[in-house]
Amino acid sequence: MKILAFESTCDETAVAVVEDGRRVLTDQIFSQADLHAVYGGVVPEIASRCHVESISILAEKAVQDAGIGKDEIDAVAVSYAPGLIGAVLVGVNFAKSCALALNVPLIPVHHIRGHIAANYLAYPDLEPPFLCLAISGGNTLLVDVRTYTDMKILGATRDDAAGECFDKTARVLGLPYPGGKPIDELSQGGDDCKYRFPLAHVAGNPYDMSFSGLKTAVINLVHNAEQKGEEIDRPALAASFTKAVSDSLVPRTMQAARELGYSKIVVAGGVAANSRIRADFQKTAEAGGYQLYIPPLRLCGDNGAMIGAQAYYEYLAGARAGSDLNAYATMDL
Ligand code: KG4
Repeated sequence: MKILAFESTCDETAVAVVEDGRRVLTDQIFSQADLHAVYGGVVPEIASRCHVESISILAEKAVQDAGIGKDEIDAVAVSYAPGLIGAVLVGVNFAKSCALALNVPLIPVHHIRGHIAANYLAYPDLEPPFLCLAISGGNTLLVDVRTYTDMKILGATRDDAAGECFDKTARVLGLPYPGGKPIDELSQGGDDCKYRFPLAHVAGNPYDMSFSGLKTAVINLVHNAEQKGEEIDRPALAASFTKAVSDSLVPRTMQAARELGYSKIVVAGGVAANSRIRADFQKTAEAGGYQLYIPPLRLCGDNGAMIGAQAYYEYLAGARAGSDLNAYATMDL
């Protein structure tokens, strides 16, 4: 079954064709990051307008690149929540029109479910159940993935997402948006013990997380140093900050895996590209005898293929949307 899939929840316009949830025939991505970089973050209206300009061009290109006729598309899928509402609306409306024109079913896909499904593309043998840590620019969730479509959130950030924390830390250090990759690069070789940052524990749920205190601690440290005219060891700051994020994520995930009896641990989302977090997970999983799945870098960030992958399983479970499908800024998993 070939699914034409759309993703436009933030600042990537992406269109893919995926066969049977596992085989990517094409994965076209247009990143708007450069357009937003001058503002230090995503400007929602610019994002929406840019999706409008690029989505039909990418769709044409995707069908061509997949080497299929339009009549070979069996269904259309779209990421319909959560995200920047104006941006999501562009994808939803375009996907609806495609489904109508091609006379095929329309499959709604939750964006974070898509991130989790990126792992099905990278690891053909991976099947639920497993425990997943989804870490992106807008979400940080610990998820009990019972089946392809039955999932339960075990814990989540109470404030900022991990990716947002990377982006704000990068901004205060004068690094470009999106800040995750530049912080990752800056931190290489830095002394990760030079600066000590607070690790938050949320009362009531050991799996919940919080990153706003860490973000504020970094901002205060940089501003204090500036006021006193002190020099900051930038690589050490980036490394110490990344260690603090990783120390919030990795032990919590391992604790959940232990307590729930999971042997398979999956990591997903843009922040899963971080080299320190990947290495910490690898070390800990190996030591504990867990099977670890982290997507290759190209499948960590937003893409259309992950939506096409999840859409196949949503379709098998009976998910269909009508012409009245709406877009949502927030939505439970
Ligand atoms: O999953 P994603 O592409 O978009 C959302 O669905 O939000 O994630 C984007 C986030 C941004 O905050 C970006 O700074 C972060 O992923 N990111 C990283 C790295 N590469 C991207 N964070 C840490 N280290 C990286 N290497």
